[in-house]
Amino acid sequence: MSNIPVTRTDKSRLGLVNWDKLSFGVYFSDHIFISDHDGKSWDNGKIVPYGPMPMEPSMCTLHYGQTIFEGLKAFRSVNGGVNLFRADKNAARLNHSGARVCIPEYDEKHLLEAMVELIKVDREFVPKKRGHSLYIRPLAYGNGNFLGVHVSDIYRLIIMTSPVASYYPEGLAPVKILVSSEYSRAVRGGLGSAKTAANYAASLLAGEKAKKLGYAQVLWLDAVTRDFIDEVGAMNIMFIIDDEIITPPLDHGTILDGVTRDSALTLAREWGMKVSERQITIDEVFDAHKHGTLQEVFGTGTAAVISPVGLLTYRGLDIEINQRQIGPIAQKLYDTISGIQYGEIEDKYGWIVNIDV
Ligand SMILES: Cc1ncc(COP(=O)(O)O)c(C=O)c1O
Repeated sequence: MSNIPVTRTDKSRLGLVNWDKLSFGVYFSDHIFISDHDGKSWDNGKIVPYGPMPMEPSMCTLHYGQTIFEGLKAFRSVNGGVNLFRADKNAARLNHSGARVCIPEYDEKHLLEAMVELIKVDREFVPKKRGHSLYIRPLAYGNGNFLGVHVSDIYRLIIMTSPVASYYPEGLAPVKILVSSEYSRAVRGGLGSAKTAANYAASLLAGEKAKKLGYAQVLWLDAVTRDFIDEVGAMNIMFIIDDEIITPPLDHGTILDGVTRDSALTLAREWGMKVSERQITIDEVFDAHKHGTLQEVFGTGTAAVISPVGLLTYRGLDIEINQRQIGPIAQKLYDTISGIQYGEIEDKYGWIVNIDV
């Protein structure tokens, strides 16, 4: 039994949910978890109804962005209950992000317990349809009221949840991607490996411009040489060249250590594929295309699992990948990861925590 107190809503939001048109991040479940840090330690937290939170105009995070978040999903298992996927990785990443922007460490076990309790309280919000899921959004921020650039004196951590649709209602459609040679997302020594608001703010203008030109997202290059590939939109990126999976390494601190990235690499290694976490330039990708060895390009992330890239544009030149069809490895990774998430494929890795709801 959890010792997290629960105050239940007397006005459920369940009736507001259009289950046939869930989309992403539009509907929010009845309750949230809130835990406060008084400058000394985090409290045990409580589950309370979702709703507006009063805030002063001087609230420091609005001004200085001392905030971090996470994103993960829970799935209705075909074997009963709800499957939480690799939540321990997200809890660890929250603390990694927090360390970078001076937010006090949160007890990872307690964070997992809070997620489980929240899912149990809002079990009716976990979608029943295959492909749909409950998106879980932990968030922590400086909650002090002051002007002046310094760390906050007090903090708040929230967990909210949102029933979401499958990213691809019509199947895995390959997307068009614009290589950004004008804007940068992250620099060495910067915030790139932290899931903090500033990175997403930095990405908005390039993303909007790309969308106006008919692209789904941008491919980010390193900020110094603009040769090396970092990420795609808010996903990690993988290339298959000559039967080798290549993905940028984590050790430069400019990209997010994606949970889906790790899951895909683990599976590919188990399937006996050659996997390289190494730097790769945009020229190498275009050269491979010229020589006919570029087989697949895809993004990995919680929202879509796998997002195949069908077309890349760089400095006015287009390359088409796999005739704009999803490749066999992207498809197999998608099928396997989703199969594990919904309990259809055996979880050999201990990635799933099944919640008895
Ligand atoms: C910048 C960025 N890169 C990569 C990812 C993929 O990470 P994950 O697979 O953990 O969702 C995300 C999404 O969380 C992201 O925001």
